Amino acid sequence: MKKALKWGGIALLALFLVAAVTALSLAGTAKKRLAKKYDVTPPAALAIPSDSTSIAEGKKWADALCSGCHGADMAGTRFFDVPDLGLICAPNLTPGGPTKTYTDLDWDRAIRHGVNKDGRGLLIMPAKDFQYMSDEHTAQIIAYLKTLPAAEQNWPAVKTTFLCDILFQTGAFGDALNVETIDHARPAPPAPQRAVSPEYGAYLVTLSGCRSCHGAQLNGGKDPNPEAPMGPNLTPGGSLPAWTADGFLKTMRTGVTPYGKELNPKFMPWKNVGYLADDQIQAIYAYLMAQPKLETAVIKK
Ligand code: HEC
Ligand code: HEC
Repeated sequence: MKKALKWGGIALLALFLVAAVTALSLAGTAKKRLAKKYDVTPPAALAIPSDSTSIAEGKKWADALCSGCHGADMAGTRFFDVPDLGLICAPNLTPGGPTKTYTDLDWDRAIRHGVNKDGRGLLIMPAKDFQYMSDEHTAQIIAYLKTLPAAEQNWPAVKTTFLCDILFQTGAFGDALNVETIDHARPAPPAPQRAVSPEYGAYLVTLSGCRSCHGAQLNGGKDPNPEAPMGPNLTPGGSLPAWTADGFLKTMRTGVTPYGKELNPKFMPWKNVGYLADDQIQAIYAYLMAQPKLETAVIKK
């Protein structure tokens, strides 16, 4: 009996040691990935416009694509703050923040390649979607951000805990370090002609990152945020065909679906989609309705 207890104890201790070594090694690899410096050279230099029409266009894109995380005034937000996991702020993008020393190439590196001025991979920042943004639209956004009044707002540096590093390394947060998966040598294609067409809608759906929450095939998915509800099926297999284009437009403007359900802006960024113009939102609907009719994906979480 005593012997059995002794061996049982040794086996437990061995198990514990194996778990501890595995955790240390996972966290160590994560730290290396997070600290790695990338020497990214965008395929071509952007020409940044200075005319008022381009700057006004840049504001519309920035409101729709950047303000959800960087704030309506672009001065940044405390984007992710969970004591057990860490703190990740979306920085101040006005000339009062870290971008005040950015060259035009640095801007392109951050937006479409996912690295900061030092070459560190940006976390959460959705460069994997923005890599498909046309040169013209990227340049308009940069032009607009440079004209903003400098907000004197500083945010703490990125902090991740041991637990967060382990989870990150096991892939629990999905593709959070976009620099690793982007093809940095591929020039971005020009944007499709602006029209209420599935082609132009496809462009907007890509830039807006609808797939990160509604699934790769848009038939249902889940944001890595553990608190988030399931992102519903947006293909004709879901409830959208009955909404009509008009109901879809109203939902993106008011956050209330034709069935009276209020969409939580914390999980479904309808306010950002709502910054787009009517024809753009209609193009998104046209694209969604042109998808194959898929059954809703079953997400295990
Ligand atoms: C889903 C949230 C999210 C969206 C949307 C987003 N960002 Fe970010 N962005 C972040 C976070 C978080 C960081 C900081 C990441 C880090 O430091 O690891 C960041 C970092 C940056 C940086 C680097 C600044 C520095 O510290 O040097 C730039 C530039 C930037 N974003 C521009 C943009 C622009 C322009 C848009 C819109 C086209 C945009 N972002 C949209 C979350 C977002
Ligand atoms: C950050 C995650 C996220 C992103 C990005 C996102 N969604 Fe959602 N969406 C959700 C979640 C979660 C819900 C369910 C919200 C709820 O139940 O309150 C939702 C609900 C919806 C609904 C209501 C569907 C229904 O059947 O009730 C529509 C329509 C929708 N999203 C369209 C879009 C479109 C179009 C895009 C891209 C332009 C998009 N979403 C981007 C997370 C997201």
